[in-house]
Amino acid sequence: MKTHIFPDYPQLCQAVAQNVINCVNAKPNALICIAGGDTPLGVFAALVEAQKQGHVDFSHTQFLGLDEWLGLSKADKGSCREMVWHHFFDKLTLRDKQICFFDGLTTHPQEECQRVDRYIDQHGPIDCIVLGIGMNGHIGFNEPGASLDNTCHVIDLDAVTQAVSVKYFDTQRNVQQGISLGLKTILAAKKIVLMASGEKKAGIVAQTVNHPASRDIPSTLVKTVTQASLYVDKAAANALE
Ligand code: F6R
Repeated sequence: MKTHIFPDYPQLCQAVAQNVINCVNAKPNALICIAGGDTPLGVFAALVEAQKQGHVDFSHTQFLGLDEWLGLSKADKGSCREMVWHHFFDKLTLRDKQICFFDGLTTHPQEECQRVDRYIDQHGPIDCIVLGIGMNGHIGFNEPGASLDNTCHVIDLDAVTQAVSVKYFDTQRNVQQGISLGLKTILAAKKIVLMASGEKKAGIVAQTVNHPASRDIPSTLVKTVTQASLYVDKAAANALE
């Protein structure tokens, strides 16, 4: 897996955004998936600016949500839906039919998984996916030990993920489960950009690079596919040799 190291977060985000822009410019109706969470916020901003400047046109692009906390909706600050809409979708003029996103409020999670799997069957494979890395190496909500055969599924969240989740929410949440694209779908994407920023990710970035590919650290599995690259800023690359 090729590793790209950038001096700072803004330059990292520009470079990651350029991957998405190149993909959409080559295929206007591309299927794009970008993680929620803090890491891609600068990528969203760069993509919104690129559309404003006329460097890319998302009007035919399909967007797929990566994951969601079960029990949370767009009205809940810090939900994936809230973050991605607030920072990205609301700033592009997208039509509803351009977006497929998990409904965290679903009372039938298995049917919700089937709905998103059907969408991927129709529109997939994903042309370009931008992933963050969890502190425990999760990608999407594929926690340590996740199966490589999984498509969309419901997950009991790892204790690390539950503890980290408080950073997103303005009130106390007791998130215990998530709903996510599975490793099978993620690793079948035509282009995978694994992205990390900041000193706090230096340890898991080094493990991702140095540890043999293993389901114990899902981010290491990205190394097993040729179409994947790691994009990090200098701080996140701190523990790399
Ligand atoms: C969020 C997601 C997660 C995050 C990861 C890193 O949609 O899929 O895998 O990418 O937990 O989160 P941040 O970017 O907040 O450090």
